[in-house]
Amino acid sequence: MKRKPAVKRRARKPAPEARPKGRKRAVMEEPETLPLFGEETMKPAAKAPTAQAAVVEASPARKKGPAAPKSRGSARTVHDEDDDDAPAAPRTRSKAAGSYGTAETIASKQREISVSEFFAKNRHMLGFDSPTRAILTAVKEAVDNSLDACEEAGIAPDIVVEIHEISENRYRLVVEDSGPGIVKQQVPKIFGKLLYGSKFHELRQSRGQQGIGISAAVMYAQLTTGKPVKITSRTGAKSKAHLYELQIDTKKNAPIVLDDGAVEWERLHGTRIEMELEAIYQKGKRSVDQYLHQVALANPHADIRFIAPKSDPVHYARLSDQLPPPSVPIRPHPYGVELGVLIEMMQGSSARNVASFLSHEFSRMSAKTADEVLTIARVPAKTKPAKVTRDQAEAIIKAFPKVKIMRPPTDVLSVVGEDLLIKSLQREIKADFYTAVSRPPTVYRGNPFQVEVALAYGGPEMKGDELVTLYRFANRAPLIYQQNACAITSAVMSTAWRSYGIDQSKGALPTAPMIILAQIASVWVPFTSESKEAVAHYDDIIKEMKLAVQECGRRLGAFIRRGARERDEAKKRSYIEKYIPHIGIALQEILGISEKEEEKVVETLVDTLERSRKL
Ligand SMILES: Nc1ncnc2c1ncn2[C@@H]1O[C@H](COP(=O)(O)OP(=O)(O)OP(=O)(O)O)[C@@H](O)[C@H]1O
Ligand SMILES: [Mg+2]
Repeated sequence: MKRKPAVKRRARKPAPEARPKGRKRAVMEEPETLPLFGEETMKPAAKAPTAQAAVVEASPARKKGPAAPKSRGSARTVHDEDDDDAPAAPRTRSKAAGSYGTAETIASKQREISVSEFFAKNRHMLGFDSPTRAILTAVKEAVDNSLDACEEAGIAPDIVVEIHEISENRYRLVVEDSGPGIVKQQVPKIFGKLLYGSKFHELRQSRGQQGIGISAAVMYAQLTTGKPVKITSRTGAKSKAHLYELQIDTKKNAPIVLDDGAVEWERLHGTRIEMELEAIYQKGKRSVDQYLHQVALANPHADIRFIAPKSDPVHYARLSDQLPPPSVPIRPHPYGVELGVLIEMMQGSSARNVASFLSHEFSRMSAKTADEVLTIARVPAKTKPAKVTRDQAEAIIKAFPKVKIMRPPTDVLSVVGEDLLIKSLQREIKADFYTAVSRPPTVYRGNPFQVEVALAYGGPEMKGDELVTLYRFANRAPLIYQQNACAITSAVMSTAWRSYGIDQSKGALPTAPMIILAQIASVWVPFTSESKEAVAHYDDIIKEMKLAVQECGRRLGAFIRRGARERDEAKKRSYIEKYIPHIGIALQEILGISEKEEEKVVETLVDTLERSRKL
């Protein structure tokens, strides 16, 4: 990409909205509060007032004993250790450890915490807890966004991921997509502000949901290298590409634009992210390579290219020209909606009455169904939503399951589909047996979800004495970490694989030459944490997942049994072919029968044995 020299670019200064008053690049001045890779240590509290410290120094021997309230300003002595009857001693710590505070001293330290500050300190929550994981998370956040954007705009995704080694443990990461691009004014907020996005307030199937992902990657890059990120985006042939260089002001959770201007870019539309970060790039399990490999498995409609240090470029060509159908935002389904949520929805509703509220705010609630619910709940249909009492709301919640309400609409979820899953697995590995099951959509806590499971079994490329390989996905995004904390893993582990002829130790994944691919698609995937690596253990999800796994298992069991039967038959047939002629000869000798009669006897014997074998 060439920059157009003629373009006049703004001086390197923060954008007016984002510029921190009185100082430049506020964030970069505070590296000590944000050390690398979780090296944070607890800092001692503020220094103790002198009077208290003096008391502590006067009684250095006193170490044990319960703490007692201390009166501010007046120095209190510590009781002697052998004074058994003494009341609970007012205890203070040694000077080095500081001293106890008061409501007032504590109050002086209480202040709002910016979401960026919080996540800068708790970066592990977002998947940036180790240098090896950091690079994977950064790639994942960018690629997930690229795929989401392409699908939302109905564009076949072309994605390029590049990792370039700059020096030891420092890399330049580039992720480029053929998506719709990002409107110029939105770029700073998307990349320079945590909790800013288009997906959080909607119930719609997408990989992203929280509005943290890509800005967290930007923040991590900034914390570890001090360098700004570069974002190029173009929204169509008629507009020019725009390049931004930006950072995050973590104190304010706001973007700092260092530079921006139009540039030449051969792509007609798309987005390119470039960042430098401290990390360790390596191959193997849980690597970027593995992640992209799995992305290709669950996204056969995407074309993915990967350039990594010291390796040949990798290309996953598109397997299908068919894009997933556009995802549709939906209203919540009544099954599983929680009381607090219902009350909150009613408080904020502008509906005329509770009947109209129910039929307009929930999916699959017709006026008739709403009436049935309200009759069972004994809530007058004309009640204003905001006037519904807590008890009435509870009665409505209890009435939902007593009324037949249609399942959530099926067309809001898109799964890969059984045929494409099998095709993907066939590209992945040469196996003896493939199968896939996509379950019908159902609901957990009012959110529609759908699961699908596919497996590949046997063949020379897989080892038979190892635990199966389990690939987990949520809305087509691979889940790489926290396998054991995930409901998908629990569903696979709690399936009785032995009944399908597969070895399994108690509480473990089965042992077999097998790859299992399992995915949940939902308008809201219940992740166990912000890093979106494990699905929470909702009974409904585990149940559905198990049903799909069991169906695959049954088909696999039938295949294994058929194989065993065929082998058995072949063995028996070989016995018949081997021994019957000898019996014929023996009979001929014993009974003195003719050759013709001997042939007939052999024929009858073979026929009888064949028939009994088939029974
Ligand atoms: N490559 C891209 N092309 C177009 N829009 C994008 C792209 N990357 C991000 N966006 C927009 O920026 C928003 C913020 O992205 P971000 O990854 O921070 O959050 P998210 O994807 O909404 O949720 P999550 O935190 O779960 O990833 C997205 O919601 C999307 O609207
Ligand atoms: Mg995202």
